[in-house]
Amino acid sequence: MNNNPIGIFDSGIGGLTVANAIRQVMPNESIVYFGDTAHLPYGDKSPELIINYSKSISDFLLTKRCKIIVIACNTASAHAYEAVKKHLSHKIEVIDVINPVVEYVAKNYSNKKVGIIGTKGTIQSNVYEKKLSQLNANIQTTSLATGLFASMIEEGFINNAVSKAVIKEYFSIPGFRDIDALILGCTHYPLIKDEINDFFEDSVEVIDTAGIVAQYLKNKLIELNLNTSQTKPSEEFYISDSTPYFEKVAGAFFKGTIQLQMASIW
Ligand code: DGL
Repeated sequence: MNNNPIGIFDSGIGGLTVANAIRQVMPNESIVYFGDTAHLPYGDKSPELIINYSKSISDFLLTKRCKIIVIACNTASAHAYEAVKKHLSHKIEVIDVINPVVEYVAKNYSNKKVGIIGTKGTIQSNVYEKKLSQLNANIQTTSLATGLFASMIEEGFINNAVSKAVIKEYFSIPGFRDIDALILGCTHYPLIKDEINDFFEDSVEVIDTAGIVAQYLKNKLIELNLNTSQTKPSEEFYISDSTPYFEKVAGAFFKGTIQLQMASIW
């Protein structure tokens, strides 16, 4: 048993969807969240830069005595997962948001066609396709960089004419017409999951990536005997640049009160 917090980080607010799922699956665990609002978006940045940011954030989370680190950003998971593990010299366990989803899809979607969407960085890395084909060669994939979604969501264009038009435009390409399932490869996207379901008229299984990661984390904590015995968990939310805007939209991603604190780690 270990009552130290779970450290979670993202380029900004998207990772709060993962924090929210973790809160639901493990209500007694304390969390420390870090959103790198000074450097977002990560989706268009070089792998080198994302690796540097991710290492510094991981160091910060270590100073908060986190018992495990969750990279709650697909772009950082794609580029920096191995580098962060090496940087921390395997002192503590690091979880990303890609491997748990790949394992789940490899197990459950044999002989199916799976669509993958994410930022330019994530899609260009081909990380989902590579890892999926290693685990299951009988899954067909098609992927698309949907760079506009994250900013659209942050602008609050959800469930309106703009979001419907953008969703329609992106998914009208031929490769996506016959998919059986869809991986939301960006932690912002759970906010438009219902709209994507509507677009596909519920004929495509839109995979609950945040829920899968939270369940994977729970199993991992139990396996390592790191799960908590406490009943009064704490929550801390840090950002690297403070804007009233971030405070305003954070509530859509995480159900509960969020008190943001500035952390000057650069
Ligand atoms: N939330 C990030 C992800 O999962 C994307 C947002 C960004 O570009 O910073 O990839």
